[in-house]
Amino acid sequence: MDRVSTGIEELDRKLIGGYPVNKVILVTGIAGSGKTIFGIHFIHKNCLEGKKCLIIATEETPDDILYQAKILGQDLTPYYESRQLIIENMFENRSEMIEQTRYGFKPESPDIELPNLVNLIHEGTECLVIDNIGTFALRVSTKKLRDQFDGLNYLVRKKGCTALLIMDEAAHNLTHQLAEYSVYGSIRLLVKENSYLGKMERYLSVPKMRSTPISPEMSVFEITSEGIKIQESEGENLAK
Ligand SMILES: Nc1ncnc2c1ncn2[C@@H]1O[C@H](COP(=O)(O)OP(=O)(O)OP(=O)(O)O)[C@@H](O)[C@H]1O
Ligand SMILES: [Mg+2]
Repeated sequence: MDRVSTGIEELDRKLIGGYPVNKVILVTGIAGSGKTIFGIHFIHKNCLEGKKCLIIATEETPDDILYQAKILGQDLTPYYESRQLIIENMFENRSEMIEQTRYGFKPESPDIELPNLVNLIHEGTECLVIDNIGTFALRVSTKKLRDQFDGLNYLVRKKGCTALLIMDEAAHNLTHQLAEYSVYGSIRLLVKENSYLGKMERYLSVPKMRSTPISPEMSVFEITSEGIKIQESEGENLAK
């Protein structure tokens, strides 16, 4: 199976080369766990390889994303300026709609359903990050939600993209973790205390990655000035 680099060397090794091409991967985690930075790695590496990339950003402006990327030494600005990378600014669209209705707020005003996000995907996009689908998932009844995730997953693949769908842990839990079943693979980021060392650490686990032999063990990682560094442990890669 062809693979697309995750932009993180250790994770590429763990996943036997990277994310399966033309599949959808879910990334979940609490606030500040590193989800957006995870997406930046994927986009930066694939921009470097000349692929057409798209970020649909629901919670940050393009400037915020470009700044975060730059301080991690993964400058996306040249690709953004040449339009090899497009950043759809859903954040400002959503926020402006809410502001306009301040004195008669209609919760449904930014009336966007999950599968309709594919209308934002430009022709020829190869790598896609949607950060964060939790924003839209919370508007849908549980009854409809599984269909909406399946619909989004199907349509994204039909467009030929390899995609990271980022979803905050709160929305993921409130939606009964249903998105997990629709996608090809999922990655969970967490921050918790290492009681042995008595300090907080960042962890990454891969609960599922179809067609990929993968250890259920969690890996420790750090966010440094050069981005995400994952500690590798002996025997972690089951294919070795
Ligand atoms: N250069 C850096 N060195 C060390 N840590 C950094 C660096 N840049 C960012 N961080 C850490 O990464 C954390 C956030 O990462 P990121 O924005 O990817 O999280 P997130 O999971 O997307 O959060 P949210 O749910 O709020 O969107 C920050 O809280 C910060 O502590
Ligand atoms: Mg984020």
